[in-house]
Amino acid sequence: MSTTTTWRHKDLTSIERLTREEIETVHHYAAQFKQSLGRTQKKLPTLRGKTVINLFIEPSTRTRVAFEIAAKRLSADVTTIEEAASSLVKGESLRDTAEVIQALNADLIVMRHRSPGSADYLGKILNIPVINAGDGAHEHPTQALLDTFTMKERLGDLAGRKVTILGDILFSRVARSNIWALKKLGAHITLCGPATLIPESFRSLGCEITHNLRAALADADVVMLLRIQHERQASTHFPSLGEYKALYSLNEERASWLKPDAIIMHPGPVNRGVEIDSALADSKQSVILEQVTNGIVTRMAALFLCLTKANELNNAQAPAQS
Ligand code: CP
Repeated sequence: MSTTTTWRHKDLTSIERLTREEIETVHHYAAQFKQSLGRTQKKLPTLRGKTVINLFIEPSTRTRVAFEIAAKRLSADVTTIEEAASSLVKGESLRDTAEVIQALNADLIVMRHRSPGSADYLGKILNIPVINAGDGAHEHPTQALLDTFTMKERLGDLAGRKVTILGDILFSRVARSNIWALKKLGAHITLCGPATLIPESFRSLGCEITHNLRAALADADVVMLLRIQHERQASTHFPSLGEYKALYSLNEERASWLKPDAIIMHPGPVNRGVEIDSALADSKQSVILEQVTNGIVTRMAALFLCLTKANELNNAQAPAQS
């Protein structure tokens, strides 16, 4: 793991743009911040005086609350704006909403939006940093950072490790961000699920594709399950949930095909009984709740790096004091 800070971005909008060293820098700070979670006094003064705005134009529990807690743990002030309670419903544009937030003296915006590319768009028009908390089916960078952090805690170095991603790859921003992160960290990736939900083009990213679940599970160190993203599917990509479950749901029998020390991951929200049996989601092999907890420290690292870099850029541009 790198011990020096490698970070050259104003915004965190995708994993595709990060280097391996930058991913390891986030993990390094996440590990440091994790040590503070065990203390009675969990708050650190790191971002005192900074204001973080969470702009959530799509529902979220884990990401929204983890960013709120992360900002508070670093002593920043944080406000969350949700679409239904904003002037977006009165017809205000995203651009105008974002410029209002900047004019209200916010130091950073965390945004979830249903449109791919929306976080990049805001990053280009605003002076303050933007963190992508999920943009349609494009990317969910902090999810991949917390997922790879969790894998490294359990498995150590991910180089040469085998990760199977199972389910709805086509509509999954989590899959895209994890594929970029895992490739950069040297892991082997196998995608498994219905042919209609795994684009062949993903082979060009260096992933193997199989529709044989037993083969996909047999030598995996990690199996990452994905939810069927009904909200993004304009048409049906498989005959029924029952059919999906019969072929690809992780149940007790199929979990026995895994190595005993393989870990089961899911970014959530989990549809118990569809992509995974309820008992397995709660089993010792499952790290689903560890992922949630690691979401706090990973987002603390992301906020810290983006705000520190923004300060450096602003100082570099500021006229010299006489
Ligand atoms: N994993 C994830 O993004 O969950 P939420 O939609 O609850 O934020």
